[in-house]
Amino acid sequence: MEKYNVFDCTILELDRHHSDRKGNLTVVENGVTLPFDVKRVYYLYDVPGGASRGAHAHINLSQLIVAASGSFKVTLDDGNCKRSFFLNRPYQGLYVKPGMWRELDDFSSGAVCMVLASDIYDEDDYIRDYDDFLKYRNI
Ligand code: TYD
Repeated sequence: MEKYNVFDCTILELDRHHSDRKGNLTVVENGVTLPFDVKRVYYLYDVPGGASRGAHAHINLSQLIVAASGSFKVTLDDGNCKRSFFLNRPYQGLYVKPGMWRELDDFSSGAVCMVLASDIYDEDDYIRDYDDFLKYRNI
C-alpha cells in the first residue's frame, strides 16, 4: 500500500442544500462524494472539554471526519510532518488517508465528530503505539 503524507489529506467541501426557511441539508453519497465507499459510520459526542481522542493510526482505513455539530481540532502526523485542521462546518469533511497518526482535541461543548469509514471495525487495522507507528513509517 502506498504511504501517504499529511499533504495528501484535505478538506472536502460537501454538497449543501440551503433553504432560507428550513435550514440546511448536506449529502454524502457513495460513488459521488468520496473517493471510497462508506461501510461504517460512528460518532463521538459528550467529549469532555480538555479530553483528547484518537492517538492511533490505521493501516488501510480511509475516513472522512466531519464536525456534524460544534468544533474540534484534528492533528495528522505522517511521522515527518504534522498538520492541524480546525473543523467547525457540517458541510466540510477532512479526508484522512491511511497511515496517518491522528489526535483529536479542543472539542467544543456539544461537539459531534462524525466519522465515515471505508471499512468495518477491525482492531488489527490499528497502530496504537507511537513507536510502532514510526517503525511502520520506516522512521
Ligand atoms: P477508539 O477507536 O480507540 O476511539 P478513539 O480513538 O476515538 O479514542 O475506540 C474506542 C472504543 O470503541 C474501543 O474499545 C473500540 C470501540 N470501537 C468499536 O467497537 N467499533 C468502532 O467502530 C470504533 C471506532 C470503536
